[in-house]
Amino acid sequence: MCGIIGILSNNLVAERLIDGLSRLEYRGYDSAGIATIWENTIAKRRSEGKLQALKDLLGQKPLQGNVGIGHTRWATHGSPTHQNAHPHATDRVAVVHNGIIENYQLLKNDLLKNGVIFKSETDTEVVVHLIDQALQLGKSPEVAVQETLAKLHGAFALAIIFKDHPDVLIGARRGSPLVLGICENELFLGSDAWALAPWTQKVCYLEEGDVVIMKRSDGFTYTIFNDEAWAPINRPVKHLNLATGAVSKGGYSHFMLKEIFEQPQTLSDTLLSLIDAETQTSRINLPIDFSGEHIRIRLIACGSSYYASLTAKYWFEKYARILCEVDLASEFRYCDPVLGKHDIFIFVSQSGETTDTLAALNLAKAKGCVTLALVNVPESSMTRTADHHILTLAGPEIGVASTKAFTAQLAVLCALALHAAAQRKTIDTVSVHLGELLHVPKLVAQVLQDVSLFDELGLRLSQTRDVLFIGRGTNYPIALEGALKLKEISYIHAEAYAAGELKHGPIALVDKLTPLIAIAPNDAWFEKTSSNIQEVATRGAPIIILTDNPAFTVNCPEFHKILLPKSTPLNACFIYTAAVQCIAYYTALHKGTDVDQPRNLAKSVTVE
Ligand code: F6R
Repeated sequence: MCGIIGILSNNLVAERLIDGLSRLEYRGYDSAGIATIWENTIAKRRSEGKLQALKDLLGQKPLQGNVGIGHTRWATHGSPTHQNAHPHATDRVAVVHNGIIENYQLLKNDLLKNGVIFKSETDTEVVVHLIDQALQLGKSPEVAVQETLAKLHGAFALAIIFKDHPDVLIGARRGSPLVLGICENELFLGSDAWALAPWTQKVCYLEEGDVVIMKRSDGFTYTIFNDEAWAPINRPVKHLNLATGAVSKGGYSHFMLKEIFEQPQTLSDTLLSLIDAETQTSRINLPIDFSGEHIRIRLIACGSSYYASLTAKYWFEKYARILCEVDLASEFRYCDPVLGKHDIFIFVSQSGETTDTLAALNLAKAKGCVTLALVNVPESSMTRTADHHILTLAGPEIGVASTKAFTAQLAVLCALALHAAAQRKTIDTVSVHLGELLHVPKLVAQVLQDVSLFDELGLRLSQTRDVLFIGRGTNYPIALEGALKLKEISYIHAEAYAAGELKHGPIALVDKLTPLIAIAPNDAWFEKTSSNIQEVATRGAPIIILTDNPAFTVNCPEFHKILLPKSTPLNACFIYTAAVQCIAYYTALHKGTDVDQPRNLAKSVTVE
């Protein structure tokens, strides 16, 4: 993961490096650092932990210089210590890196044999020493970088500055995103365009294998090379229109809570972009034909986006009668998948940058399959790569654990399945269901009207070590999502099972100390789910049921019921998602964990 930034300017850069890093902290927050060239030396400031620690350090020890690089780290190689914090540097060169140098150990062994002394445990440091050695042989920064890149395997984005060339900043991209920002008297590098947005919205997205050499001496010019052919290459320059204001918590105690409460609005925005409210017909305008007899939907995603995709399988099969397969992106790309010529690939991603999902997208594209990306971040790698895309209109999601982006994905996927059903004429109730979908924002608002029961439950759950979730149908993936949310932000161990699957093994986990959270809407499977709940209650587990059946009760020593709005099989998953999000949030709140930036996580997963 990690976020990187670089600025080449006539003005001081340190403050803006920090400002840019504050918009990249979603990529990792284990440590942060910046380096500039000042008075003919490479000067660094680095701190363990969040960016605030680096800001405090800079308050005490400011940094001059008008060329610099910065980094916010999600640790891969080497623990999150000061010593392993980027930038890594010798006397001649400093580097920040996002990604993994897969052959670093071999390169390190060679360097060690040649007497190089390493100061960190990182893979990045080999890059620094390789460039340094080339510079010592009198090679130019361009050649030193070119020769070094040829030795590296893996995925990376790099930003590099040179003590003896304070008018040069070099960026390189292979596998990890990197954007060049262009101004008349300044040039920038960033892991995304948002990081650069307050300074410039004129950007150029670097492509695989691109290296950009930026120079101040020639009046802030840049040349892009491709590292295989090393030939200058033109890349399109885009003029973006990104919001530049800081996103605030708006009076909420955490971004996550704000984002949970934003869902009625974000769902409404997303649904109204897909459904004509007056005619209750689909407004989806995609040049994809879903009517073919032999088509198959292939949904590919990771994490919460994978759970949204699992939910969508029920909709595509039930309403559109299309065979639908769902794969984890990290597995799909390495399992030699059979790709059919009638397959329609849908890649679901909040960030649009997840490495595994992006790689799967490239694989499907290379095989000539139809590719559609459902993404929340406009101008992300996936929107630029897929044949077609639909945006989930959730707006910036700052809390690391996905909430409003997840429900927006559900909304798009459900509308898309109904759009496919309309094309295939498999049901004659499409407009009824689209109408039902339009009621979802109101129902979610009802769930959030009074959160006191979630708060009470959160206090109870904050004292537990393990939690089990169950659900059936579309609520099985919601149970998985509920368990993931709880794990992510409260660090409580949680597992989710299809309700009917419990007795095939997991019921052995049931004991008096392990609460069961059952998603039990009053639907066609209600009685079956009730029996599963009873089987657990009989074995002494505390029971928490989320239901819209006011009469439902279970005979057991500890019983909690949260009564939710009346649901239909189509809209239940939205209602129950809001409930499990609140349970996770209040449990974490009572445990006192870092809700918005939980340990070990990052918002955008750009390593395999
Ligand atoms: C969980 C969460 C992650 C992401 C996963 C995929 O709260 O946010 O599980 O869903 O890392 O990320 P995207 O959707 O950006 O591809």
